[in-house]
Amino acid sequence: MNKAAWSVVFGVLLVSGLGIPAIPTSVTQAWADPTVSQPSGKLKGNILRGREIFNGKGVCYYCHGIDGDIGRPPRLAADTAMLIGKLNPLPTDLRNPEILRLKTNKERARAIREGHPGTGMFPDTTMTDQDLTDTLLYLALIRKDPHPEQ
Ligand code: HEC
Repeated sequence: MNKAAWSVVFGVLLVSGLGIPAIPTSVTQAWADPTVSQPSGKLKGNILRGREIFNGKGVCYYCHGIDGDIGRPPRLAADTAMLIGKLNPLPTDLRNPEILRLKTNKERARAIREGHPGTGMFPDTTMTDQDLTDTLLYLALIRKDPHPEQ
């Protein structure tokens, strides 16, 4: 994706309420082209696809809110919403790095694939490896992580 296309994508994210006021330039530079290998070459992914998975087939948004905004729950059937409201612990605000407990993508990948032990977060059995990588990059974006690969 070229720079112009990326700024369109990014514009869409912002307009749709991702609401990131300022992203450190290190992040925007590293992610200038989300389809190209990251600097260390470890994670090759597409953040926009990650967002689609988060708000789509990954059903992450059911519990973590649309775009990971815990204050923006989707419209769900009343019984589903009630079950989520009763989870203990409650789903995490994935945008707030200060309260996040998992520190590496390895741990996050495991929580997503195998379920988060001791919580209501169930394993996702539908994601391909690429889906997972894209989702991890998207999670790094919403928590404004300057080291999206870690
Ligand atoms: C059924 C509700 C539910 C769904 C669906 C769900 N989660 Fe979670 N998630 C939780 C709960 C509950 C926790 C744990 C909260 C805690 O530890 O305090 C959690 C924790 C996490 C964490 C760890 C946060 C930390 O502390 O570092 C990540 C990352 C995460 N979820 C990502 C996802 C992603 C990505 C998806 C979609 C593939 C997803 N979740 C789907 C409920 C859910």
